[in-house]
Amino acid sequence: MSTTSAASRDADAGGVVASVAVLGLGAMGTALADALLARGHRVTVWNRTPAKAAGLVEHGARQAESVAAAVAAADLVIVCVLDYAGVTDLLERQAGDALKGRVVVNLTNGAPEDARAMAERVAALGADYLDGGIMAVPAMIGGPEAVLLYSGSSAAFTAHQPVLDAFGRGVFVGGDAGLAPLNDLSLLAGMYGMFGGFMHAAALVRSAGRPVEEFTTTLLVPWLHAMSASLPQMAAQIDSGDYSATGSNLAMQVANDSIGDVSRAQGVSAELFAPMYALMKRRVADGHGDEDMAGVVELLHKR
Ligand SMILES: NC(=O)c1ccc[n+]([C@@H]2O[C@H](COP(=O)([O-])OP(=O)(O)OC[C@H]3O[C@@H](n4cnc5c(N)ncnc54)[C@H](OP(=O)(O)O)[C@@H]3O)[C@@H](O)[C@H]2O)c1
Repeated sequence: MSTTSAASRDADAGGVVASVAVLGLGAMGTALADALLARGHRVTVWNRTPAKAAGLVEHGARQAESVAAAVAAADLVIVCVLDYAGVTDLLERQAGDALKGRVVVNLTNGAPEDARAMAERVAALGADYLDGGIMAVPAMIGGPEAVLLYSGSSAAFTAHQPVLDAFGRGVFVGGDAGLAPLNDLSLLAGMYGMFGGFMHAAALVRSAGRPVEEFTTTLLVPWLHAMSASLPQMAAQIDSGDYSATGSNLAMQVANDSIGDVSRAQGVSAELFAPMYALMKRRVADGHGDEDMAGVVELLHKR
């Protein structure tokens, strides 16, 4: 297996120049290939629908006629297609032996068990494997806000990080290949919780005829920012299992359903808040009313 750096010093470019294949040129794969080209890397691209490579070829990419040819031209192979069925087809059926000695970085979304199975299959083909989660939309790739999570071979990550940096800030989350998708999905779960809270708040404010944008910028965003500062402490409680109250016990928080009552009175559905309220009530009913809210996690997952 190749765990040494595929990147080589290019005297002319004055930086690290690597030979990289990008398989899959949808919105994301195209952004990834463009970011590599912008850093001066030698990029070979392949897509099931070949016409989608035209713009990248104009930007300096070479277009391979087959997956195996693209892989053979590179040390580092980036895969970004719709799903793992596509990845399996490309790597096992189409690339096969050409993968030997390469490093595969699979940035296709999937489940942790998909990533672990893929790591084993790629290892059986003689290549090193990194799974990845992209915490960005295509327009953010290569910009300061893009974060990419990687898991799997730490040696491959260390060797290729200078190249992967073209996409955004890379964070290695562990040797278990399933950890990048696990962290990716966990971050999205947190994000959707925040968006759900925002929708409810926006509906309440709008139901009173107030402008949502002004409320959001002047009040909601600073409030959520301040509240997010409490998350590390809640996380420490979850890790330790000690939910001793630190100021706002749970029984006080669910003493009444003001949020639900006022919502309903104003013609706003409380269906986003209702599950959270129900969980907090259950935790109190279970005898934990004198504890902090973080203990609600025990109702979602038994340690
Ligand atoms: N876009 C985002 O905001 C975003 C953000 C984070 C992660 N992702 C992940 O990135 C991956 C790609 O997303 P995208 O936005 O690029 O999707 P997309 O624009 O819909 O492109 C899908 C790509 O997958 C290819 N493909 C689909 N099935 C295939 C198969 N069986 N064999 C070979 N190629 C196949 C398509 O080829 P054709 O061109 O031939 O159809 C195309 O290149 C997904 O896993 C997605 O979840 C996307």
